[in-house]
Amino acid sequence: MDQTDILIIGGGVAGLTFAIKMAERRPDHKILVITKSALGETNTRYAQGGVAAVWNHEVDDFNKHIADTLDAGDDLSDPNVVNIVVKEGPVRVRELIEWGAKFDQQNGTYDLGREGGHSENRILHFKDLTGWEIQRTLLEKAGTYDNIELRDNIYALDLLTQHHLGYVVTRVTPNIVCYGAYVQDKSTNEIKTIISKVTIVATGGAGQVYRNTTNPTIATGDGTAMVYRAKGRLENMEFVQFHPTALYNPAGENPDFLVSEAVRGFGAILKTRDGEPFMQKYDKRESLAPRDIVARAIDNEMKIRGDDFVYLDCRHIDKDDFTDHFPTIYHKCQSLGIDPMAHMIPVVPACHYLCGGIKVDAYGRSSINHLFAVGECTSTGLHGANRLASNSLLEGLVFAHRIVEAVDDIIDHIKFEKNIPDWDAEGTTEPNEMVLITQSWKELKEIMSSYVGIVRNNVRLQRARSRLHLLYKETEDLYQTTILSPQLFELRNLITNGYLITRSAAMRRESRGLHYTTDYPDKLDFLDVTIL
Ligand code: FAD
Ligand code: SIN
Repeated sequence: MDQTDILIIGGGVAGLTFAIKMAERRPDHKILVITKSALGETNTRYAQGGVAAVWNHEVDDFNKHIADTLDAGDDLSDPNVVNIVVKEGPVRVRELIEWGAKFDQQNGTYDLGREGGHSENRILHFKDLTGWEIQRTLLEKAGTYDNIELRDNIYALDLLTQHHLGYVVTRVTPNIVCYGAYVQDKSTNEIKTIISKVTIVATGGAGQVYRNTTNPTIATGDGTAMVYRAKGRLENMEFVQFHPTALYNPAGENPDFLVSEAVRGFGAILKTRDGEPFMQKYDKRESLAPRDIVARAIDNEMKIRGDDFVYLDCRHIDKDDFTDHFPTIYHKCQSLGIDPMAHMIPVVPACHYLCGGIKVDAYGRSSINHLFAVGECTSTGLHGANRLASNSLLEGLVFAHRIVEAVDDIIDHIKFEKNIPDWDAEGTTEPNEMVLITQSWKELKEIMSSYVGIVRNNVRLQRARSRLHLLYKETEDLYQTTILSPQLFELRNLITNGYLITRSAAMRRESRGLHYTTDYPDKLDFLDVTIL
């Protein structure tokens, strides 16, 4: 059994920012950050566009950023949370700069980019590698604290609660408490118990539940699934954001390569395969409308025309400007024989971001005592039914700071729970057919992509639920009889996420933001979250 004051599951923008701030606040406390693969292999690392924050007060102000966020959220965001994130955001970004993050400047001032749904240029960025720069900064900074330990290739399996002490815990049990987590060391396959006073889930998104996704392979919704199994509260899981412009990927690369929305902010225009702009038919903001609108418009054009992709036309943009701002995108296109200055870039929507997740309050507290959550795995109320571009990194920074306040208040009153039994692997044997896992994973992706994608209806959702139920049963059988592997756990977690997305989608009998169903095409007057 290992013991740490604070266990952080996840080392992206959310987990590392919290670790740094907590280490500074309480140097006497031991903080352990675990990541399931290499340090730095996170969604954060792949962020392109940047971080949204009100910066140029001559033209921008908090009210504009608040209004844009609420508008993108399609009336489901919590105005109090939006207010907090927008107003605290610039201070948090400034701290990141003080820690060493470099954002592009022009003539001595920050070069602010524009993305869909923003009424002003307010995106700080580092070329098209903003996430890489943030991840680098945070890892370097975290490495300077004696009381932070970073351990890679440690996979969190399950959260520890009273259930592990032999009590019956259900969704209505009051005062569920988290005591840490069971983890698997991927280098030895050993399963260990880590007990902690406070546990932070910062596990990122679940994009791998769909066939086409911009999310790296670590994005398997482990945190949302673990909290659901521990009987914690989740909400708004139906709001899955599809990014309008992933590079068309007939070779089936996983993940799909993103062509940042910042490229449209720089003037690129969406066109059909015969070169006609089409976004004017859908929204007056055209190619820079919020993502839900643009992704649905592309999906519709592809279906009407029977095309596999639409085009992004950048040919009118100055080559030096383009390569200076988007070197990674330029080189990726070139590597596939597409010269963005001479050819239009083929793009398709791909799953990009989970707007719902673990329900937390304005200080990151989950419904389980001593368990906090931060980053993409949460539902804070900021994004509502659709996230505004570049608000995710911002949310991670702001909430990481707020959680420090809440943890500091309670940690001195918490004792370690030392009676947790070791993981019980009795009755399990070595898996002899990996194909059972890989095939189920493929089936899951097909089910979710075919039936729970951008456009939904009751028949498709019902079909998804019955197919998912079968996969669930087969996977549980495998789980009961085979020795555990992270692959099996990831499959199990993805099936849980697929189920939660599908069930929430079926519960929402309206179309709002990212959830569009042909059976209920209108938005209802009353607002509600889908609680699971
Ligand atoms: P992540 O950065 O994904 O980190 C998750 C961590 O959890 C990892 O360390 C992982 O190893 C760990 N983990 C997961 N499960 C386990 C487990 N079971 N055990 C142990 N460790 C575990 N947002 C913006 O605001 N601006 C952008 O420009 C932008 N561009 C994007 C571009 C791309 C291609 C993608 C994919 C996303 C983009 N986003 C952007 C979204 C944003 O990057 C993510 O929402 C954000 O980085 C999530 O941060 P996080 O800390 O919550 O999770
Ligand atoms: C992008 O660069 O288009 C991604 C931005 C985001 O997801 O916020």
